[in-house]
Amino acid sequence: MNSQPIHLHVISASVRPTSAARPVARWVADRAREHGAFEVTAVDLGDLALPFLDEPEYASSGIYTHPHTREWSALVDSADAFLLVLPMYNGGFTAPFKNAIDFLYREWQGKPAGLVSYSAGGSGGAPAGRMLRPVLRAVGMVPAESSVAVPGITDLISPDGFLAPQGLAGELTAVLDEVAALAKAPVGA
Ligand SMILES: Cc1cc2nc3c(=O)[nH]c(=O)nc-3n(C[C@H](O)[C@H](O)[C@H](O)COP(=O)(O)O)c2cc1C
Repeated sequence: MNSQPIHLHVISASVRPTSAARPVARWVADRAREHGAFEVTAVDLGDLALPFLDEPEYASSGIYTHPHTREWSALVDSADAFLLVLPMYNGGFTAPFKNAIDFLYREWQGKPAGLVSYSAGGSGGAPAGRMLRPVLRAVGMVPAESSVAVPGITDLISPDGFLAPQGLAGELTAVLDEVAALAKAPVGA
């Protein structure tokens, strides 16, 4: 059995300066650290400040001309798996995250991804997660079957951070368990 830690990147997939993704992602990263299977890196798309895709060659060529693409490539390359923390905007996931995905190709391939969505309304952003899954598969990621959806996000953000509803930690553990199992599964199994 492989006892090496899995390098998990927790990606905050929203760039608004007051984004709820930051406190939610901090809480998610703390739970992932407690889980025990992961070495966790927090990735904030807002800090990354990628421009709209501006590479002359397709990402699948791996030919990158800009330092921001090379840095993003190295960061994603260093991950074994991802936990994606995403809001729902008008029924879908965020445009900045789609842009960040499109910048790369090989770097995503074969890597599991767990989804934590949230929204102001009652769906918890689950439709955004459903929309994202085929995009993840298109670049070769392996989305976990289980996911977490957090409704009513506006009432759950305080100056102290994310006020996780009861039971959420258990739901997240199920996603983390699945991501860990997928990351340890032999390729093609
Ligand atoms: C452009 C935009 C569209 C939104 N669309 C929805 C929506 O369709 N359903 C919903 O429940 N909440 C919607 N919201 C509310 C967000 O879910 C909530 O404000 C959340 O905190 C936004 O994520 P962020 O803080 O990471 O930007 C929308 C918010 C924004 C900014």
